Amino acid sequence: MSEEIKKQRAKHHPRLLTASSADLEGTAVLEKLCFHQPWSASSLELLTKEGIGVGYLCTQASAGAENPMVTAYGGMLIAVDEGQITNIAVHPEHRGQGLGLAIVQALIKHAKAEHLATITLEVRVSNTPAISLYRKVGFAEVGRRKGFYTKPTEDALIMELKLK
Ligand SMILES: CC(C)(COP(=O)(O)OP(=O)(O)OC[C@H]1O[C@@H](n2cnc3c(N)ncnc32)[C@H](O)[C@@H]1OP(=O)(O)O)[C@@H](O)C(=O)NCCC(=O)NCCS
Repeated sequence: MSEEIKKQRAKHHPRLLTASSADLEGTAVLEKLCFHQPWSASSLELLTKEGIGVGYLCTQASAGAENPMVTAYGGMLIAVDEGQITNIAVHPEHRGQGLGLAIVQALIKHAKAEHLATITLEVRVSNTPAISLYRKVGFAEVGRRKGFYTKPTEDALIMELKLK
């Protein structure tokens, strides 16, 4: 990445919000835009329940709409000392601007503050942008789940970040 783009990113570092119930519908719209099998607003509610999950998002005012548009979000479920990233999604028109990275970093910071031992996730083996993003922040490949995804059928790569 060029120095100029790095400077621009630093200048416009996104302000991340913690997901709350008011953001669920907007986040479900982004899910539908990004995934064949999107999480619904009611499933996403898990990410707003303290001790169960956490979500971070970026929003942008949307002309004429009552609620701002969710431009990026990421969620993580927490069980004992393990975090599991459920999804990261950035609106197609806002990709390549550092939003995905900022969200993953916020989830990692949260996991460290909660003294979690590991964060794991699954990702389609063909999803080069996401795999590259996760590698960039230290995730390593630890396994595969055969035929985990449908439409189209594809293996999942299991990735893990050790925090302890
Ligand atoms: C994967 C995704 C979240 C990345 O978000 P983003 O905001 O565009 O990513 P960023 O601008 O923060 O880039 C951070 C890093 O991600 C990787 N990356 C992002 N886009 C990439 C691309 N098109 N090709 C390869 N690597 C890419 C790079 O490592 C990049 O670091 P670099 O800029 O130093 O090279 C986004 O492409 C997306 O929403 N994809 C569809 C949904 C999805 O597949 N989510 C993951 C489910 S597990």
